[in-house]
Amino acid sequence: MATWSKPSLIAAVIFLLVSLLSSASVANGGRSGGRRLVRSYDEPCKEMRLYLHDILYDYSNSTSNSTSAAATKPTALSAAVSNPGFFFGRMVVFNDPVTEGRALPPSLEETVVRAQGLYLYDGKVVFDAWFAFTVVFNSTAHQGTLNLMGADPNTEMRDISVVGGTGDFFMSRGVATLRTDAFEGFTYFRLQMDIKLYECYV
Ligand SMILES: *[C@@H]1O[C@H](CO)[C@@H](O)[C@H](O)[C@H]1NC(C)=O
Ligand SMILES: *[C@@H]1O[C@H](CO)[C@@H](O)[C@H](O)[C@H]1NC(C)=O
Ligand SMILES: *[C@@H]1O[C@H](CO)[C@@H](O)[C@H](O)[C@H]1NC(C)=O
Repeated sequence: MATWSKPSLIAAVIFLLVSLLSSASVANGGRSGGRRLVRSYDEPCKEMRLYLHDILYDYSNSTSNSTSAAATKPTALSAAVSNPGFFFGRMVVFNDPVTEGRALPPSLEETVVRAQGLYLYDGKVVFDAWFAFTVVFNSTAHQGTLNLMGADPNTEMRDISVVGGTGDFFMSRGVATLRTDAFEGFTYFRLQMDIKLYECYV
């Protein structure tokens, strides 16, 4: 059996690595239409501040104004823990307008950026929640989606993950810092979302 000399083995390994690296970059370039991956965990490659407006249907006659609805009845556990409970197990489904400024858009239906998804309450004695939603961009500035999810504890600032994206946000990942910017009982809240992407195709 032929044995490899040390220099020829090293040369073979280097050749293999170089050919693997070059085929990987060709594949990425092809799939993303010539864009390239920018990844730095020290500096975000993209930053956005957006406001999410959630108007919960509260059984009055404002159905046209509502953008979210409870999808569950109060659980026996939430009622037993305290009255009216902290809604442990309650799930809310939403299709909310998202804006760059704090003001509500003039037409709730025709907003070009929307957040679609759900939050559920998972605290027995505090208003802790869990979020999972997609920010859908259909504007002249951006076409595509970002998917966000994570625990939403009852604190002033909380971070959730940006786990992926499509379109202009192809394969994006990062962190969104949430802060409740306004709160009107149970019927309305405005969430400030500071989205920082650390992986982008540009
Ligand atoms: C229903 O809407 C009308 C018009 O906005 C308002 O005047 C009325 O008070 C509302 N009724 C209830 C029960 O909320
Ligand atoms: C819709 O809801 C928002 C938030 O509660 C409120 O500011 C606004 O006046 C409402 N609009 C109508 C037409 O009821
Ligand atoms: C995006 O906007 C265009 C133009 O306003 C509209 O025709 C299209 O239906 C929208 N798409 C979605 C998914 O909302």
